[in-house]
Parts: sequence; C-alpha cells; structure tokens
Amino acid sequence: MAQAVGISPALLINPNQVRATWRALQNALPKVTLYCAVKSNPYHSLFATLVNEGAAFDAASAPEIQALLPLGVPTNRMIHTHPVKAEHDLETSVRLGVTSFVVDNLDELWKIVPYRHDITVMLRLAFVAPDAPCVFSRKFGARPENAVHIMSVAKQMGITIDGLCFHVGSQAQRAETHRVALLKCTDIARDAARQGIAQIGRIDIGGGFPANYSNRPVDFEAFCAPTREAITEIPEHIRLMAEPRRAISAPSMTLVTRVIGRAKRQDETWWFYLDDGVYGAQSGRIFDHINYPMTVFTDGCGSPVNVLAGPTCDSVDRLGIHENLRELSLGDVIVIPEIGAYSIATACHFNGIATEHYRPRGHPINTTLAGVRVKLPVFASSRLKLLSDT
Ligand SMILES: Cc1ncc(COP(=O)(O)O)c(C=O)c1O
Repeated sequence: MAQAVGISPALLINPNQVRATWRALQNALPKVTLYCAVKSNPYHSLFATLVNEGAAFDAASAPEIQALLPLGVPTNRMIHTHPVKAEHDLETSVRLGVTSFVVDNLDELWKIVPYRHDITVMLRLAFVAPDAPCVFSRKFGARPENAVHIMSVAKQMGITIDGLCFHVGSQAQRAETHRVALLKCTDIARDAARQGIAQIGRIDIGGGFPANYSNRPVDFEAFCAPTREAITEIPEHIRLMAEPRRAISAPSMTLVTRVIGRAKRQDETWWFYLDDGVYGAQSGRIFDHINYPMTVFTDGCGSPVNVLAGPTCDSVDRLGIHENLRELSLGDVIVIPEIGAYSIATACHFNGIATEHYRPRGHPINTTLAGVRVKLPVFASSRLKLLSDT
C-alpha cells in the first residue's frame, strides 16, 4: 500500500486501444468519413495516434483548431461544428483556413455573410435518441420541418448550405435514431433540390457512439447495423460523415486514484476521500451520469464504505460507489478504466488542486499496484513510473 503513496492521481493512456477502437468504428461504417471530435479529450498523444490512423477532426472552436495544427493536420481535414459561434471565433477559424462550418438558426447566417465566398455550411437539425443520457438537441439543432426555409433564406443571402448534420445525443444505446435521422435528412435534401434551394452533397451523422463502462468492448458492427441499413438508401452523390469521440476516448484512459482520508460522520456513515474527484477526472459522474467500473486494491482490513468523495471542499464532489467497493483503508488504490472521455477535458484547479500532472507522458510500463501485479494500459504517466521504480 505504501508503494502507492505519491504516485496518484494518474491517468494512463493506451494508444493501442485508441487504434483498435478507431479501426473497429471505421470498419463498422465503411462508407463514412470519421471526423474525430476534439472536445472529449484534448490530450495530444491521443490526437497523434489518430493522425497516424489518417483521421479527420471535428473542432468546436478556434483554439481546438489551433491545437491540431502543430500535429500537421491539414485544415481541409477539419470541420468547425459549433452551431452558435462567437464572431471572433468564426473570424479566427476562417483565417486559420477551415472552410466548413455549421449553423442552426437564421441569426447565425448573418455571421457567415462576410465569409460566404470562402466557406460552406452544414445545417444542424435536432433529432433526439430517447436512450441517450446526454441530450444535445434541446440546446442545438433546427426543427427538421424548418430546414428548407432556413436553406432558402441562406440562398437569398448568398450562403452555400451543402450539408445537413445532427447529433442524436451522447452515449446512445442503439443507433435507431441515427437511422431515422439519416433517412429524414435524405428526404429534406431531396425536397431542397427539387425546389432549387440547395444541393446537399453531405450528411454528417454526428457522435453518440457509446462506450460500455463495463470493461467490455462495444460491438460497433452490431451497434452501427441500423445506420448501415439506412446508408443503402442514400443517393450516391451524398458523402457521409460522422463525429465520434466518446467511443474512442473513453476506453483509452485509466485513472489511478488513492484513498487520502476517511471519517465516521455523525450519522455513523463512513466517508472515504480520494485524491481525485468531480473537479479532476471524474466530472463525467455529474455531466454524463456515468457510474465507472472500479478495481480496488485493498489490504482487506478496512471499514465499510458508505460514501465516496473527491478531495475538494465542495459537497457536490461526491462519487458513485461501485459494487466492487465494499471496504477501504487509508492509502488503498482504486483503478478506474474507461475514463478517457470528457474527463481531463473538464478538469480544473478548483480549491487550488492541480490537475496538470494528470497529463500522461507515454512511458511503456509494467507495474505493481499496492503490492498486486496488475495489467494496466501499456503507457503510463511519469508519476506511475515512480511506483514501478520503488
Ligand atoms: C457537434 C458534436 N459532435 C460530436 C460530439 C462527440 O459526441 P460523442 O462523444 O457522443 O461521440 C459532440 C459532443 O459534444 C458534439 O457536440
């Protein structure tokens, strides 16, 4: 147990897993160009792995575009997909060389006007997967029945709308909504062409591809079957795109965290405090309603766990308890896999607790945690290497 002191919290990255998931998704959607959404994990080694796989990227801001440029990603392999952009963000993104943008309302069209000869635009439509815990279509997306009207206004303004896009919600359990939305977009494209309003040459089916959060890989072949079925009905001239990210990022990272304190509270409950919480890598518990799997390394002489909490002073910083977690002692190590999506992306310095050291360095490692030989992802942070050196 003492071996663990000083090495946590740490995030471990497994580039092999990134590659494997990327290829599985690509094989499941052979006719679809995958634009990896940057936002779920800004860690550059993830991007580098994806760049080597030939990925294209979906950015939602100029800084996300700027983060991709040093990796040699050409701007024609990037799309900017934020439907409601600050004007300076749009201006910078165009200046950096990106030429594909998204709108979902009439006001946004006015922002596009100054750049209308240099860029093309996709219209984002709202479709909701009822089984996706993270719903986006309340915040973004025009109603499908308004699509042709928005496209006709765009035409009058001299703006080229050449694509339709949607995001059914993140962590969808089935691709039924992807299928229905894709077919609806095809109908809208047909209407727009018939009325001479727009020539839709691409449909972007967004993200929503799930992670399992159960230590088992997702069967993307099965998940994408409804989408592939719809694709057979799409006219040949329409190019297909998707913007996956959770599915790729989540299984690529593992968190190592440690019990830094425990206390029996007035109601006789045992509280255990970890060195990582919702302001660190575990914000997905709140934002995405995820109950991550956990592996616990304990000496078995602990107290029952009633409540698990993060290290900050905020009462919101409480963590779910997994079935593997019965009792704990001070210093025990908890390993949380599948925590690469929307985790370090939102980590902050609340309470002055630093999170930069989460950034993994990529040293190959074989390690022992709390005296137990474990199979962890093959690349680890320098802090974890300390553990193996002890
Ligand atoms: C426009 C857009 N595309 C893609 C994604 C990635 O979605 P997911 O992580 O569900 O694959 C998001 C997530 O917020 C998004 O807003």
